[in-house]
Amino acid sequence: KTGYITMDPGFGNTGSCYSSITYVDGANGVLRYRGIPIEELALKAGFTETAYLILYGKLPNENELKSFSDRIREHAPIHTNLEHHFSGFPKSAPPMAILSAMLNLVSCFHPEVLDVPTTGDEFDRTAALLLSKVRTIAAFAYRMAAGKPINHPNPNLSYCGNFLHMMFSDPYNEYEVSPEIDKALNLFLVLHADHEQNCSTSTVRVVGSSRANLFSSVAAGVCALWGPLHGGANAAVISMLDAIKQSGRPLTYYLDRAKDKDDDFRLMGFGHRVYKNFDPRSIILKKQVHNVLTALKIDDDLLKIAMELEEITLQDDYFISRHLYPNVDFYSGILLRAIGIPLDMYTVMFAIGRMPGWIANWKELHDHHLRISRPRQIYTGNTEHPFIPMNQR
Ligand code: SDX
Repeated sequence: KTGYITMDPGFGNTGSCYSSITYVDGANGVLRYRGIPIEELALKAGFTETAYLILYGKLPNENELKSFSDRIREHAPIHTNLEHHFSGFPKSAPPMAILSAMLNLVSCFHPEVLDVPTTGDEFDRTAALLLSKVRTIAAFAYRMAAGKPINHPNPNLSYCGNFLHMMFSDPYNEYEVSPEIDKALNLFLVLHADHEQNCSTSTVRVVGSSRANLFSSVAAGVCALWGPLHGGANAAVISMLDAIKQSGRPLTYYLDRAKDKDDDFRLMGFGHRVYKNFDPRSIILKKQVHNVLTALKIDDDLLKIAMELEEITLQDDYFISRHLYPNVDFYSGILLRAIGIPLDMYTVMFAIGRMPGWIANWKELHDHHLRISRPRQIYTGNTEHPFIPMNQR
């Protein structure tokens, strides 16, 4: 029954399903990937290790991790004809649009993945290929938009090290990955690796349920993640904190705006459909952001503003009564700033992190031969009436 989407009689799917990948207890702030608490994974596991856990249901031993990492490394380059597509995008193209388009395009250069089984070597290869190429596409999108020459992947670097190299190396200056930055990026990606049936993961499942291929299913997931109510919130938080800093206005001004129903302003990074006390990822990020900024000797005003904002909402009835607490996006942007990731790439980073979760959910759906997703509705439109000729309208 795992992966099964429950169907309410008459109302189609309830939007809930059975899954064995990630467990979230919203009331108690619990998040576990395949039973392992996020608090342990965040500090003890790397992203590749966590991706393996999410995909295959267990932590890899050394040999498994090595062959998984080698496979990811092997698939880092993209076809040169694919590279040419980047130059077709305008410089102002949003990186999430590029990411979604290019993920679909990758399948055109790998026709063998269009009908991939969900087990065995074919699936393993396709999963590694996607995990690797999403990183390369992201870095290439940034370099092209910045008018900089692309950096081809370096097979001697780690998953995060290779990404940072592709993003920030220059022709005569190979980017030096500091242990603090490598650790911070691994932490960010581990915390985003899966999160039950959120908007974008559900999108991947709905698209995959029609037997659409894995690439088009995750490309659809990228589009769902893009929205400011979902993955787009991490960048929106930084824009909001920066606007607060520039305005010089008191924080209470922004709280009043958030409460004003005639004002569509929301405190970005606050609230969650499931977590009603705290988002465990936000707790981890708040602590780790401090450590990273201290290690990198960065004094970021926005962190101070964020903590003050969190402080006053904790004492405000409007937020308390609506269970509005910082979510994963509230502090994650400050971590990305410390790493040097440009603002318009923040949601792309979320997509790179969520890729293992999307693939694992797509696989789980197919492992259980599920029916096509077909939600029903409560009809509220016109009752039946005859066609009205033009001269009587
Ligand atoms: C992610 O689902 C997941 O797991 C997602 C995610 C993942 O890992 O995949 O955790 C990642 O998307 C985190 C959420 C990131 N989004 C934001 O930070 C955007 C700001 N937050 C909101 O827009 C909102 O809180 C949501 C979208 C996160 C949740 O929306 P809900 O549960 O549908 O809440 P709602 O819109 O129905 O609001 C309930 C009440 C309303 O007030 P009333 O009508 O009751 O008076 O709370 C208010 C809202 O106005 N409210 C907010 C608010 N969020 C909700 N008021 C001010 N600021 C906010 N941020």
